[in-house]
Amino acid sequence: GRPFQYDEQRLVCDGVDIAGLADSFGTPLYVYSAKQISERAGLFQNAFAGTPHTVCYAVKANSSLAILKMLAAQGCGFDIVSGGELARVLKAGGPEVASRVVFSGVGKIAGEMDAALAADILQFNVESEPELELLASRAAALGKKARIALRVNPDVSAETHPYISTGLSAHKFGIGIQLARAVYARAAQFPSIETTGVSVHIGSQIRQVEPFAEALEKTLNLVRELRADGHNIRNVDAGGGLGIEYGDKSFDAAQQVQKYAAALQSALGDMDVHLLLEPGRFLVGQAGALVTRVLYRKANGDKKFTIVDAAMNDLIRPALYQAHHEIVPVVRDEAVATEEADIVGPVCESGDFFARSRALQQTEQGDLIAILDAGAYGLSLSSNYNTRVRPAEVLIEDGKARLIRRRETYDELFAPEIF
Ligand code: LLP
Repeated sequence: GRPFQYDEQRLVCDGVDIAGLADSFGTPLYVYSAKQISERAGLFQNAFAGTPHTVCYAVKANSSLAILKMLAAQGCGFDIVSGGELARVLKAGGPEVASRVVFSGVGKIAGEMDAALAADILQFNVESEPELELLASRAAALGKKARIALRVNPDVSAETHPYISTGLSAHKFGIGIQLARAVYARAAQFPSIETTGVSVHIGSQIRQVEPFAEALEKTLNLVRELRADGHNIRNVDAGGGLGIEYGDKSFDAAQQVQKYAAALQSALGDMDVHLLLEPGRFLVGQAGALVTRVLYRKANGDKKFTIVDAAMNDLIRPALYQAHHEIVPVVRDEAVATEEADIVGPVCESGDFFARSRALQQTEQGDLIAILDAGAYGLSLSSNYNTRVRPAEVLIEDGKARLIRRRETYDELFAPEIF
């Protein structure tokens, strides 16, 4: 079930009263359910129990140290895309997590490679030949061997928003699968490179499992060829991207993971590989809500606006992808009429909205509302635009709220500036 539910009239997260949290910690406030995050990670781990695998949580979805620490303790590895994310997972999980870390991304720089080589991460997912060359020379310089997978672009279309679709030739990601064999042959010639895997990732918020299976099948065909060519390919990284439900429909997460696992496992057949999985959103998306307070109500002509204290800098998904997020009152009251309004923030952009013409229980100044399913790509994709401090974050664990990130201060925002 969803962690955010009503207890009588009041919205709670795993039993903890949301209005009380807003009073204690202020708004805007991100609230996360530890229970749901660890349940979702467990669903993944269990669904793939029959296959040797590692769940490498995609750190970008929610990079909170407290959440990373929790997932590390649960045995998860990590998919990182920067030196900053590497530093985060090492800080949260200690040096021993490195053996479960894969490093993705099209633009890795030398310093990031050096840090990942020093930490001895499991695998670099290399996305181009020039990147391979730089990695080979950095590893040689440090006297290390870099374990690599090439991220192949399988030219599979995933029905999702164009900004978060990655598996077509038209996208910047990966190496065309038809070129991969030649690049592996080249990679194997570098004494500082070990070709240990193949990786693929076709996009995000994908609700059908067929595209994943199709991409994996193409990838496994390549693995067979590479093995015949003499490469010792052990790891097959199937990427992330499994979608969640953002509407108000009920959603059976367990069933969704089962379907996903069945599709991948049927593609795998009896192939002897170590499967890597990179779920991000699926683990954290529905575990989080952004709680915000109504500042003002106004109308321009016929159009009504509810102005809240959160803004696009705190949660940019509606502005960037026209993403739908359910919005609910923190204290509901059936006696109050519903009203259609745009829910907007204080930032000076017309794109600063959370919902347009949304029917919601009519709010008054000072009321609280919760923007649901905001646990993934919420705070991690936030900014300080308009010199706004980022929201605080609390994690609900065993019926108690723990502050895991306090609200920023202006001095912290100004600290790097020189004038
Ligand atoms: N692996 C790789 C290589 C990725 O690029 C991504 C996400 C993931 C795994 C995790 O995907 P997930 O399981 O979370 O779908 N900001 C957008 C989503 C961007 C996804 C970027 N890559 C949004 O808010 O919808």
